[in-house]
Amino acid sequence: MKGSKSAKPRRRHALVHASELLTGAGVRRKDGRRPQEEDLGRIHDGAVVYESGDPKAGPGPGKVLWAGPTDEMPREYRRVPAKDLRGKHAVVPGLVDSHTHLIFDGNRASEFAARCGGATYEEIARNGGGIATSVAATRAASPARLEALATQRLKAMAAFGVRTIEIKSGYGLSLESELKVLEVIPRLQAKFPELTLVPTFLGAHDFPKDRERGDYLRELIDVMIPEVARRKLAQACDVFIDRGYYTVEEGRRILAQATKHGLKTKVHADELANTESAAFAAEVGALSADHLLCVSEKGIQALAHSKRTVAALLPGTAFYLKAPHAPARRLIDAGACVAISTDFNPGSSVCLSLPAILTIAALYLGLTRAELFASVTYNAAKALGLESRKGTIEAGRDADLAVLPFATFEEIYYNFAWVP
Ligand code: NIG
Ligand code: FE
Repeated sequence: MKGSKSAKPRRRHALVHASELLTGAGVRRKDGRRPQEEDLGRIHDGAVVYESGDPKAGPGPGKVLWAGPTDEMPREYRRVPAKDLRGKHAVVPGLVDSHTHLIFDGNRASEFAARCGGATYEEIARNGGGIATSVAATRAASPARLEALATQRLKAMAAFGVRTIEIKSGYGLSLESELKVLEVIPRLQAKFPELTLVPTFLGAHDFPKDRERGDYLRELIDVMIPEVARRKLAQACDVFIDRGYYTVEEGRRILAQATKHGLKTKVHADELANTESAAFAAEVGALSADHLLCVSEKGIQALAHSKRTVAALLPGTAFYLKAPHAPARRLIDAGACVAISTDFNPGSSVCLSLPAILTIAALYLGLTRAELFASVTYNAAKALGLESRKGTIEAGRDADLAVLPFATFEEIYYNFAWVP
């Protein structure tokens, strides 16, 4: 075969004697809805055989060949080099963080202090702070500086077992600055071939202070979306539909253009107020409706009945803004596919630890171990359109594996804010 001599052979590896192996196969079978303990596919003393990724095929993991109890490993795999976990480590699907604003410069510690003194997030934004503060710092930053900042943040996130990370732009808010931010992502991907980075264009994060509203909206639709799509710098387009930000009708025009240019869609929905943007996200078949702190019963029903749109909850934000939490129980009980993500950003959730966010979800959203597991594996993969290959440990699917520093999955959120 042509070129096969220079191609590196795919190497096989095995993990054996995991204290518990959670495959999540049952979560996939029920599309992440109302997950129960028996859907986790728990195997005591588990093993996984997988092959390493093909560097020629670009970044990304190889495939799982087999998963099951260590003492049932098929004969053909028994000579594969194995790492013995000695019953001390749980193995779960590589965690998925489906919503981050990873790339920005500057910080908003003084705004945080003002919030601690009683000012609200929206008041700070009205007085010229908030997203605008981060936009000014990010516009002034060099690409190399943004890359260095993002590199440190990615290392921290990955240390918690996260293997797939969505990254939004949205602190540029001009063609030039949004492209500068998005262009950092392929460089990060080259640096971290073991991670899967998923870029999302969020030019509709806010209206830039130096432009007239209609003028920016026109440029966003007519110039920025086509250019981002043409350069293949994003897989999806997101819009912040909320009180004081974009309207549902503006979101409709933006996402229609994104769809026309081959981008998938996402919505920051019903965070600060109910605008029926969750129902809108379900109506247009967005991958996810994110936040949902103020979602209405209509929005809950729309998400529960959607085959496509994931309800992506970001409880770090409610915690950090001291806002009421999203109605997670009602969403799950109604049948929605619920994901949980960090929403790491400089204003409303300055937290790189997905497990710490799970602690908040366990305590304040009232989720069970099975629901928490599904929310950061299959369900979060579905929020990125990757559910056909990520979020479970099964033969033929991506070998994204997280070997935890604990013997059980629940210890990653029982230990609050642990340091890897
Ligand atoms: O997801 N809600 C909109 N965007 C971010 C916050 C952005 C910021 O404050 O910088 C979020 O919470
Ligand atoms: Fe966000």
